[in-house]
Amino acid sequence: MTQPTIESVLNENRTFAPPEAFASDATIGSMDKYQELYDRAAADPAKFWAELAESELHWFEKWHTVLDWQPPVAKWFDGGKINITYNCLDRHLTTARKNKAAIIWEGEPGDSRTYTYAQLHREVCKAANAIKAMGVKKGDRVGVYMPMVPEAAIAMLACARIGAVHSVVFGGFSAEALRDRLNDGEAKLVITADGGYRKDKTIPLKSAVDAALADNAAPSVTNVLVLKRTGQDINMAEGRDVWWHDLVDAASADCPPEPMDSEDMLFVLYTSGSTGKPKGVVHTTGGYNLYTHVTTKWTFDLKETDVYWCTADVGWITGHSYIVYGPLSNGATSLMYEGVPRPSNPGCFWDVVEKYGVTIFYTAPTAIRAFIKMGDDLPNARDLSSLRLLGTVGEPINPEAWMWYHTVIGKERCPIIDTWWQTETGGFMLTPLPGATPTKPGSATKPFPGILAEIVDLDGNPAAADEGGYLVVKYPWPSMMRTVYGNFDRFRRTYWEHIQPKDGNYMYFAGDGARKDKDGYFWVMGRVDDVINVSGHRLGTMEIESALVSHPAVAEAAVVGKPDDLKGEAVVAFVILDGGFEGGDDLAKELKGHVTKEIGAIARPDEFRFADDLPKTRSGKIMRRLLRNLASGQEIAGDTSTLQDRSVLDKLRGGA
Ligand code: PRX
Repeated sequence: MTQPTIESVLNENRTFAPPEAFASDATIGSMDKYQELYDRAAADPAKFWAELAESELHWFEKWHTVLDWQPPVAKWFDGGKINITYNCLDRHLTTARKNKAAIIWEGEPGDSRTYTYAQLHREVCKAANAIKAMGVKKGDRVGVYMPMVPEAAIAMLACARIGAVHSVVFGGFSAEALRDRLNDGEAKLVITADGGYRKDKTIPLKSAVDAALADNAAPSVTNVLVLKRTGQDINMAEGRDVWWHDLVDAASADCPPEPMDSEDMLFVLYTSGSTGKPKGVVHTTGGYNLYTHVTTKWTFDLKETDVYWCTADVGWITGHSYIVYGPLSNGATSLMYEGVPRPSNPGCFWDVVEKYGVTIFYTAPTAIRAFIKMGDDLPNARDLSSLRLLGTVGEPINPEAWMWYHTVIGKERCPIIDTWWQTETGGFMLTPLPGATPTKPGSATKPFPGILAEIVDLDGNPAAADEGGYLVVKYPWPSMMRTVYGNFDRFRRTYWEHIQPKDGNYMYFAGDGARKDKDGYFWVMGRVDDVINVSGHRLGTMEIESALVSHPAVAEAAVVGKPDDLKGEAVVAFVILDGGFEGGDDLAKELKGHVTKEIGAIARPDEFRFADDLPKTRSGKIMRRLLRNLASGQEIAGDTSTLQDRSVLDKLRGGA
């Protein structure tokens, strides 16, 4: 494991107090209030969460044990019976929210739809009955491979309604990546669409599903439910594939929610690690419902009238927690947008803000950096006066991007919440509360109440102020991941064994390096493992390496990230070719296509360096630290005494 460095420490001293107009109207409107909540939660986390579980959620039956913590296994609200869709839908129907917009959807070619809570409830019940009719039962896994359409959220909620476990796979992943995920989770059903719109093109989702299932390569899948979205030509396999409009439209709208045990699995979501294949992060029902509910309510300081827009795709955890479950559990209006900014429509995000009067806007630093490049004229030409709160997620935000967001989009009026969290954490861990926390550009500020975060060394000793170390969480929280699907041992090794406190306590190891300043503000510096973050998407270097070596020309490959102004990190691949193959632009192009096919376009290397050898230790281990130096054009830093052959470095420095 690489030791986190603080070379990149920001000399950032600016502090922005919450705007008075915002704070005076906020649920948590001062640091005193935050501190009171934080201290109360820290003194007795189980009591704190139990009180919230009681006041914020509906339970069919109350739990008998708030927290059963047998490290690293946590059970929250054990014995409690709950259904997250009851909290997201049914309970709003007896209130004034019944006819409030639950989902506002803006489709890519200009179509739009709105679902009120009553309509969404109806559609979810119909879809739930449809998937039941296909033989899906409580506990079965269902793959969801959809474009950004309301039916993606409906499919997830329909699964949760009957207790099936959804496993959403981002529509940008390839057929191969989809197949791996379906097989790992032994999915019974796949819900997909003929295609989706992305950047002026249609993406062929159904044909990717066909390729994933071809030759019985994903034998657990018995049916495919297909939404008609683009109308493109597709094959429908007799007896296996069914149209959504045939089955769902005809289904009954009466589907009572299945009472789930609090610890029953809600979903699996695959994410990249530093070793092996992506792992299926398992989240369960009660704790996840509670934590996403409370974090949405306080961190976005939700008001009944908000129009809330999170620009993520439902294929990522951000979409799960903060497009679907958190906002709907709060009865909020959640906007879904199918498009992404692109040269033919660079102002599209600001058009959507103006069209719907968006009040809360939550996006990724990589998008903000792209907007900066496109110029201030685009946002300045739109009416953004409805905005009252801005958020970012997915990667560290550079202070320049933060300041642009603050001035050009927020007009110095909107607080910015920089939320640090992960697929594994289920919800926000470090974040300002916008009416309370003074912000510093580039810092995710402080832990959410109930989260005992710390910066430590490998023995679990706390780091001094401004000293770099590993970001850990010292106590369980309700939405923590419960296991890696089908591989508890990997869960234990990956998250619970890196940090070994002398007192035998367990600490959750997040995989990020960070520091805490003298004011107790956290500054996340990035991954300390072999995970890279490209445009806010998390990729395992080993996954890309495996994809590369599966190409006949490649004998060995090592992939590292290098800093990139737009994407945060770019992917650089060092490749040793098999005899007879010649490195060059043509082969680089071919290898890019190969990685796209194996994983998806998001993992495509930006740069190739063809080499005869890689820098290795005498025991044969690739020295990635040196490759990172080379990729970013830096001087070779640190100790190179264990290097087998120094001349390799000189050859690689040239680049190709
Ligand atoms: O490195 C951190 C980075 O994204 C990782 C988690 O990625 P993923 O599970 O895909 O979830 C992304 C959306 C929650 C973290 O380990 N990360 C996420 N948010 C931030 C961040 N790094 C710095 N600042 C953030 N706000």
